[in-house]
Amino acid sequence: MAVNLKGTDTSKAPEPPLGNKPLLGERYTSKEFMELEWEGMWTKVWLIAGLVEELPQKGDYITCEMGRESILCVRDNNNKIRAFFNVCQHRANRLVQSEKGKAKTFSCGYHGWQYSLEGELIYVRDEEDFPQGSPCGKLKLVEIPCETWGGFIWYNMDENCSSLHDYLSPHQEHLSVYPLEEMKRTDWVTIEGNFNWKCVQDNFNESYHIPDVHPQLKYFLDERYQSCQFDLYLNGNVRMLMPGSIPTPHAEKEEDLIIESLKPDAEFWEMDIESYRGRFKEFRKDLQNQKRKLSEKKGYDFSLFNDDQLTDNYHYGFFPNVYFSMKPDGNIFLRGNPHPTDPNKCYFDMWYFTWFPEGANEYYSNSMGKYVAIDSPVEHLTGKFGEISAGPGIDQDVAVWQSQQQGLSSRGFRGDYMPYQERRIRFHHETIDRYIEGSIQDFIKNNS
Ligand code: FES
Ligand SMILES: [Fe+2]
Repeated sequence: MAVNLKGTDTSKAPEPPLGNKPLLGERYTSKEFMELEWEGMWTKVWLIAGLVEELPQKGDYITCEMGRESILCVRDNNNKIRAFFNVCQHRANRLVQSEKGKAKTFSCGYHGWQYSLEGELIYVRDEEDFPQGSPCGKLKLVEIPCETWGGFIWYNMDENCSSLHDYLSPHQEHLSVYPLEEMKRTDWVTIEGNFNWKCVQDNFNESYHIPDVHPQLKYFLDERYQSCQFDLYLNGNVRMLMPGSIPTPHAEKEEDLIIESLKPDAEFWEMDIESYRGRFKEFRKDLQNQKRKLSEKKGYDFSLFNDDQLTDNYHYGFFPNVYFSMKPDGNIFLRGNPHPTDPNKCYFDMWYFTWFPEGANEYYSNSMGKYVAIDSPVEHLTGKFGEISAGPGIDQDVAVWQSQQQGLSSRGFRGDYMPYQERRIRFHHETIDRYIEGSIQDFIKNNS
């Protein structure tokens, strides 16, 4: 197997200019700010509706909720995937009610108007009774830009949007070494949370909280900011590279716990973790070498990875609300979607994509701490915080957002005071402001 050791580009992005305006609680709690975000940002950015694999055949469709809108995506009669606002042109009833399905035409439940898969209005009852002329051939569902990348369906509510390619840059290129389209969604969870969507995004934009919120991670991740690389790209996308399969130095004495954490991976890759007592630092490099050696036998093609990608977390943030946390064997997809009307609520999505070794039907997912099966269609779990789980580590994050939101509406909170390692948060908020002010393109141009 040819090994291309280049892998994903790890060069450090130049630091963009950052301001120092305090981030006040009202950004998370006020309806006015929520409205500014909706008009200036949510309706101008590329967002993910679902997976291409959900629409294998003509007539397959999905709907997704985004704030006050519902978006309908369908594979039309020419195999093209289209996106429409999910609203009937008669008197605005939501056209399709279910999350997914198959249709020859879409028929509105209120007065029976029917639309083709291409969005044309093709049937109305009492067609002769319209003094203004039949709406058939005249009215259409309102279509919006829709493209695919990485196995995902992307849409943009702004018909004058920039290209998806520019929007995703440079992540599209960086992530091309991962077989995103082959990974299978093995978890699909949506939690209705009592927190603003930015609590989710802020949290994944820093790792400062790890020692307190996820004390278990220190046994196999070196989360210290000195060990990580943070990249901030002018279009609002960000990245963090964090070494994995290595304990942080302050955990090195707790050998039994380190062994417990690293064991499943070590066993899969036929290594004796016990022999690393007293020298766990060496495990990461040895595991990288072992993966190169055994990858073919184990059913993985790592030929496009650099060595560090074999063990580390490559954590990619897509502006405004999606994280791909790339592991060597999967991707945790994390997203906070706004509530239709209440800034104190949002919908948090966790999708886990497993990269199954070739030929394997079952796999132990280290990140999820469980076995996952390739052939069982994954069920969409929805519920409130505490009712359903987004996985052992992520549940710890969700618990904090609930309590943070309470503090964000307190008179006793006077704005943030953040260390430099949390600068992706500030940058994210400043990018939101640039969308609201309409200055994002100028910012990119003036700093390129
Ligand atoms: S609102 Fe859809 S047919 Fe009347
Ligand atoms: Fe966390």
